[in-house]
Amino acid sequence: MSEEEIPERYIRFEETAEEVNGSHDMSSAIPIIDFNKLLDLESSKKECAKLGSACRQWGFFQLINHGVPPEVISNFRNDMTEFFKKPLEEKKVYSMEPGNLEGYGQHFVVSENQKLDWADMFYLVLRPKDSRNLRFWPNNPPSFRESIDMYSSEAAKIVSCLLRFVATDMGVEPESLLERFQGQPQSMRMTYYPPCKQADKVVGLSPHVDCAGLTLLLQANDVQGLQIRKDGKWVTVNAVDGAFIVNVGDILEILSNGRYKSIEHRAVVHPTKERMSAAVFHHTCKDATVGPLPELVKKDGEALYSSIGYMDFITRFFAAKLDGRNHLESLKS
Ligand code: OGA
Ligand code: NI
Repeated sequence: MSEEEIPERYIRFEETAEEVNGSHDMSSAIPIIDFNKLLDLESSKKECAKLGSACRQWGFFQLINHGVPPEVISNFRNDMTEFFKKPLEEKKVYSMEPGNLEGYGQHFVVSENQKLDWADMFYLVLRPKDSRNLRFWPNNPPSFRESIDMYSSEAAKIVSCLLRFVATDMGVEPESLLERFQGQPQSMRMTYYPPCKQADKVVGLSPHVDCAGLTLLLQANDVQGLQIRKDGKWVTVNAVDGAFIVNVGDILEILSNGRYKSIEHRAVVHPTKERMSAAVFHHTCKDATVGPLPELVKKDGEALYSSIGYMDFITRFFAAKLDGRNHLESLKS
């Protein structure tokens, strides 16, 4: 195979033909939320309203001044980079196994003729801590387990703080939202997107929505590639250096009784540069009900989604391939 040739299973026709809104105004319009301002009594109310409006209008925002120690991020980023650079044989030790989502490989592949994403992925369950399966935790580079652990705690802290503000914005008691996230269940997808000379013929990560409550995404190097669907067109997110990209997942859309939006997104690849990201997903706990919060149903006069147990919810989500908002639509009542 010549260097320029791309295996058939990676060539996409429909997705790559879709329109991308290149206007600079659009991509810089993704709201930026200042974590410091949320915490500061004087500015909190205003910033919280901004957070709420970002979750309603965009389902996405970038979080700056989050206070995560820079070395926690750089250690994690360096180890992740080193890991993905290792020879395939070494990474394959952690290959996904049938019936298990964890490990190294491609996610959401449900059939042999399905198109593939131009990416290497690695999925791990991070929290609660006793649900970790160390069999999948790389111990090379030697500091990787530790750097993942540190990163995981920082992400969990930020998200539980954000959820309090989310509750305030929705007008519910913080505890009533937080109790569904008890134990701070958390998982992570690290993704390595190799460069592709014919970048416009492939897709890095298929259009999808996240099934989580909130996702905290770290773009680990300075190559852009995340796009979100806004008014029918793809809009590129220009990740602010050092910021987290936060997005509303299906679960939070449902809990909010439709106030907040879980927005479809995807990743494209670069012709000459590799890209790397880590998405940390924050889920409700195993015995939680995924359904609109009762206070909101009361306020709104109706529940816009049916309520199902979290385990059922997740099984249904992962049984479907990454397929836009279909899973969520099926839960609308
Ligand atoms: C994800 C995701 C986007 C990116 O892993 O769910 O949306 O930029 N990643 O890699
Ligand atoms: Ni995603």
